[in-house]
Order: sequence, then C-alpha cells, then structure tokens
Amino acid sequence: MIEYRTSTDALLPEHVHGFFVGWPSPPSPSTLLALLHNALHRVVAIDTETGNVIGFIYAVGDGILSAYIPLLEVLPAYQHKGIGGELVQRLIEELREYYMIDLCCDEGLTEFYQRFGMTPVTGMVKRNYSKQAGRSITGQTTVQKECAISRVQ
Ligand SMILES: CC(C)(COP(=O)(O)OP(=O)(O)OC[C@H]1O[C@@H](n2cnc3c(N)ncnc32)[C@H](O)[C@@H]1OP(=O)(O)O)[C@@H](O)C(=O)NCCC(=O)NCCS
Repeated sequence: MIEYRTSTDALLPEHVHGFFVGWPSPPSPSTLLALLHNALHRVVAIDTETGNVIGFIYAVGDGILSAYIPLLEVLPAYQHKGIGGELVQRLIEELREYYMIDLCCDEGLTEFYQRFGMTPVTGMVKRNYSKQAGRSITGQTTVQKECAISRVQ
C-alpha cells in the first residue's frame, strides 16, 4: 500500500534511496532528507511494506506569496500508477493559500502539469552543474551546520 505523508518525521537517509535517476552527481540520501525537511511543504509517498520513500515532491518559498517546486520524482518501479499525479495534487492543496506556484519542466511534461491547473510560461534558469549535489556547508558557522544537521535527525 502507498501512504502519503506531509512530514519527514521518522524518516532516515536509508529510507530515501534510488532517487535522482540519471544525475551525474546526485545529492546524497541525507541531503535529500534535508531538502525535504527544510522545505516549506513536502509530500512523500511511502511503500508501507518496506517503509521506504518511493516518491516525493516539495516546495520552497517565502511563506506568504510564492512557492516554487524544485523537484518531483517517483522511483522507476513505481511510475505510471498515478503516484506522481497524487503527489502534485496533494502539494497544490497544501499550497492553496499561495498566489504563485511555479515549477520548471521539460516540454513533454506540460500536459501532465496542465491536469492540475498549471499553465506553460517562458522562463529563465541558470544551473551550476558543479554544485549538482548541493552547496557545501563547510564554510558555515558551527551554529548553521548544527542547525542543518539537526533538521535531518
Ligand atoms: C514525472 C513523474 C514524477 C511522473 O510520475 P508517475 O508516478 O509516473 O505519474 P502518474 O502515474 O501520475 O502519471 C503518469 C503520466 O504522466 C505523464 N508522464 C510521465 N512522465 C512523462 C514524461 N517523461 N514525458 C511525458 N509525459 C510523462 C504521462 O501522461 C503518464 O501517463 P502514462 O502513465 O499513461 O504513461 C515520473 O515519471 C518521474 O519521476 N520522472 C523522473 C523525474 C522527473 O522528470 N520529474 C519531473 C520534474 S519537472
């Protein structure tokens, strides 16, 4: 059975393996857990048989007006079963009080997102590929590091 949760409580890095398919330098499982934990809102899909996360979506934002959805992913073995759509639907419901709900996607996925009331726009992006696994926190103060780490414990 698939269970949907809006919290990362009780999740450990070993529960979030196998994501970022095809990424040359993907974020580690503990980084993914930190991304989910630090997000404004997130929805995770869990296979109750294994306790593992098999899909996730999250939004970052200003907490008032705008929310941006950086990532949505469902593990290949679980795709085409409606889980990705359910994650989008549930996150949009979580974000119902926000004015702007934005994301970037490949052209082929526009029809998928249009099902949830989204519309295509022209956008601009910049990617620092050397930072694909996430920014280093070695330059942060001890307090900042402890804060980032405690969020995923
Ligand atoms: C996109 C993604 C999250 C969809 O998850 P899912 O659980 O398969 O989604 P659903 O079962 O709800 O919907 C599947 C439908 O979405 C559409 N879709 C999914 N992937 C697609 C793709 N790469 N191109 C075009 N349409 C796609 C199709 O209409 C598909 O219908 P089908 O099952 O009849 O083929 C999943 O394919 C994935 O993780 N892809 C890799 C990461 C990614 O591209 N994320 C989106 C970033 S914007």
